[in-house]
Amino acid sequence: MGAYHPHWPGPLLSPMRYRPFGNTGFKVSEVSLGCWQLGADWGDVSGEEADAILKTAVDNGINFFDTADVYGAGRSEAIIGKFLKSQNKKIFVATKIGRFSPPGWPENFTLDAVRTHVMNCKKRLQVGCLDLVQLHCIPAGEMKKGLVFEHLRALQQEHHIRFWGASVESVDEGFLCLQQQGICSLQIIYNLFRQKPESLIKEANRKGVAVIVRLPLASGLLAGKFSPSSSFPLHDHRNYNQDGQRFNVGETFAGIPFPKAVVLAEQIKPILEETAGSQNPAMAQRSLRWILDNADVTTIIPGATKSHQVRENILASSLAPLTEGTHRKLNSFYKEKVECLIRGPY
Ligand SMILES: NC(=O)c1ccc[n+]([C@@H]2O[C@H](COP(=O)([O-])OP(=O)(O)OC[C@H]3O[C@@H](n4cnc5c(N)ncnc54)[C@H](OP(=O)(O)O)[C@@H]3O)[C@@H](O)[C@H]2O)c1
Repeated sequence: MGAYHPHWPGPLLSPMRYRPFGNTGFKVSEVSLGCWQLGADWGDVSGEEADAILKTAVDNGINFFDTADVYGAGRSEAIIGKFLKSQNKKIFVATKIGRFSPPGWPENFTLDAVRTHVMNCKKRLQVGCLDLVQLHCIPAGEMKKGLVFEHLRALQQEHHIRFWGASVESVDEGFLCLQQQGICSLQIIYNLFRQKPESLIKEANRKGVAVIVRLPLASGLLAGKFSPSSSFPLHDHRNYNQDGQRFNVGETFAGIPFPKAVVLAEQIKPILEETAGSQNPAMAQRSLRWILDNADVTTIIPGATKSHQVRENILASSLAPLTEGTHRKLNSFYKEKVECLIRGPY
């Protein structure tokens, strides 16, 4: 493992900006990469395309990947592990455990099971110590019991884990995790259609806990590219989990019924376009900019099925902030039209 340098990375030619990752001394790209797509559940992303996605990210200043053991039953981690060996930049890799079988729930939360999952992540990522291990939306009851946090601390003491955090579904779960001594990061859904976590994000930042934002594009909705008749491949959760048939409905289209969400995306577009400036960015970039305008967010992790999407998303980092007036209108839009449609724990 390379040593951590607080001021790494040095000046880059890309427009990327960096933010401190909690109290770690690390600075991470404010636009990073979600790697669920490299595993499964997003149609077929080939090994070649996955490599191109990772390379495009790193070549353009991204230094933070989010993955999980369960994405494609280890495929995402294995692809990242191989990629890390092929280049020499230090990439901060955040993985997750808690949802992989065997043994599965509820046995996944014993010290033995946590240890086994951590060791398997290390093998697939080909590292001696994991940068960050996040609990992967585990049952709230397990987080309340608190034992699983003890296990993470034990593995940290043994130098298998450098830092640990939690990915959560609801704001309440997030606040619960913030009470845990030593927590480094929180991951939560936060986007134009999911504005509730603002208080949590503020508190996390106050406590020096890094905030990782997932679903920044609400599974692609906030790129404004879908119509009510859009369809998705068989192996895509946007096909088989639109109403939460397989896992938390909130992880697909932010929990909003698809036909209604498409209409909302169309309605929000002109508000986002008010602050066009000379750059005239695409809707995806404006949607990501809205999140980046919150200085308490540490990094956003848009996923990508194609490498050109990575390049487009990175450009959100160099856009001018949206105006206060636009922010106000986007907040009113959310409160009046979106909030009441959200399903799932929130
Ligand atoms: N429980 C958890 O902890 C959890 C759950 C979910 C996700 N995550 C993490 O969060 C990451 C991000 O969330 P997500 O991938 O679910 O949602 P997302 O980032 O909101 O949406 C990603 C999808 O949006 C589309 N897209 C991306 N950039 C685009 C662009 N510039 N223009 C047009 N379309 C674009 C792509 O879909 P298509 O091109 O296929 O349409 C892409 O697969 C995941 O990769 C994963 O690492 C964690």
